[in-house]
Amino acid sequence: MNENLEVIILAAGLGTRMKSATIKILHRAAGRPIIDYVLDLAGDLSPAPPVMVIGYQREAVQKCVGNRARFAMQEQQLGTGHAVLQAASFVEEGGGAGKRVLILSGDVPLTKPETLRSLLDEHTRAGNALTLLTMRLADPAMYGRIVRDESGAVIRIVEAKDASDEEKRIDEVNAGIYVFEAEHLFDNLRNLSPENAQKEYYLTDLLAIIRDAGHRVGAVVANDPVEALGVNSRADLAQVETEIQRRVVAKLMSEGVTFRNPNTVVIDSTVTIGADTVVYPFVTLEGMTRIGEECVIEPGVHLINVTVGDDVHLKTGTVAEDAIIEEEAAVGPYAHLRPGSQLGRRVKIGNFVETKKAVFGEGAKASHLSYIGDAEIGADVNIGAGTITCNYDGVHKHKTIIEDGVFIGSDSQLVAPVRIGRGAYVGAGSTITKDVPADALALSRAPQRIVDGWAARKRESRKR
Ligand code: UD1
Ligand code: CA
Repeated sequence: MNENLEVIILAAGLGTRMKSATIKILHRAAGRPIIDYVLDLAGDLSPAPPVMVIGYQREAVQKCVGNRARFAMQEQQLGTGHAVLQAASFVEEGGGAGKRVLILSGDVPLTKPETLRSLLDEHTRAGNALTLLTMRLADPAMYGRIVRDESGAVIRIVEAKDASDEEKRIDEVNAGIYVFEAEHLFDNLRNLSPENAQKEYYLTDLLAIIRDAGHRVGAVVANDPVEALGVNSRADLAQVETEIQRRVVAKLMSEGVTFRNPNTVVIDSTVTIGADTVVYPFVTLEGMTRIGEECVIEPGVHLINVTVGDDVHLKTGTVAEDAIIEEEAAVGPYAHLRPGSQLGRRVKIGNFVETKKAVFGEGAKASHLSYIGDAEIGADVNIGAGTITCNYDGVHKHKTIIEDGVFIGSDSQLVAPVRIGRGAYVGAGSTITKDVPADALALSRAPQRIVDGWAARKRESRKR
């Protein structure tokens, strides 16, 4: 943490190559907006909230970022130099002398804090007025090229659109991340002119200006160019997401999670998983999902904001959202836990069971083919195959309460509102419309009739 460091994040551009109605920094990768990763990075380096330069969709950006940043407005996108100048008043407030400014882009989310720390260290060590991050690319494409002299010193940056054919062949490019001494930043920006191919005020012009004024400038080459990858297109977004996924899985493995095929899982950066949990292929874990220790997460499991205790077994194809699954529970295969489902300890939910706003007490079971919605299920209740809580009368939702130790026979319908008292039995095939007292048997199916010889007579009549 550096008390004298101010971070400026450039984020006023729309990002037209995304072909989106939404500004690029609000597109999500691994469950979070791109800008969140940049804000985390700023927070790692400086105690003061960063100054974000915003323009397009400022309301949406401010709503998403909230008090994690201070905001400077750039009314017209006249270039990166003009953008930084809009943040001047925040940095120069109270003098600005001796301050150091780190400039980041809102659309570059993969830079590691240690890389920025080494950039800052080199800046201090060399006594530079400006130190920038560069990288070597096989295809330097539209990045600004780093021009060095015979001694290897950086002398200027030339934008791809302004570069000669010879300069275009330079493979060292500007990552768009800079450390400036504040005294060499804003006054020089005020003197910039937009005499270039894009008629923009280029922040990059400052390098030659500062050097020509006799001050030291330097560059640090990033080891891994992915750290400077910007989100300019959907292809970039996919690449950024892949890299974040790779980091998420690597971190989880270092914390003791087993992945049977780490390349096939999709796990948001917001998800946590406990040690000794085994994750099978093709699992998707999103949002604020929290998984305990020693769980087994089988193929095709998809969880969104689900809290899972220790020792839980989620079998193939289980889908759950906004649900809680306590320790030693088993769910699936092919179960659907909708919002408000809460499974107590050792609950068993079997195949083709759907639950919604249903709380299951410890040890309760619904093993096959059931719909349990708007329900309170007591401890050790056994719900037979094909049971349905009829919770909806076409207008309102009603509640089914099943007390501890109840046995619901297969193929029963419980027409809510209805309560089944503690320890009661519901006979298979019943349609229950009235409350059942504790310890009673409720049976509502039509009595069975036997017609002797009926089938044989029918066969005879067909032959004739
Ligand atoms: C810039 C650099 C280039 C570097 C590249 C790295 C300049 C002139 N060029 O090019 O050398 O290789 O970044 O990614 O700086 N922005 C504003 N207001 C503006 C213009 C831009 O806020 O008026 C913001 C954008 O939203 C973006 C960042 O600044 O977050 C960079 O702008 P962008 O247009 O992407 O820069 P490049 O042309 O890619
Ligand atoms: Ca540009």
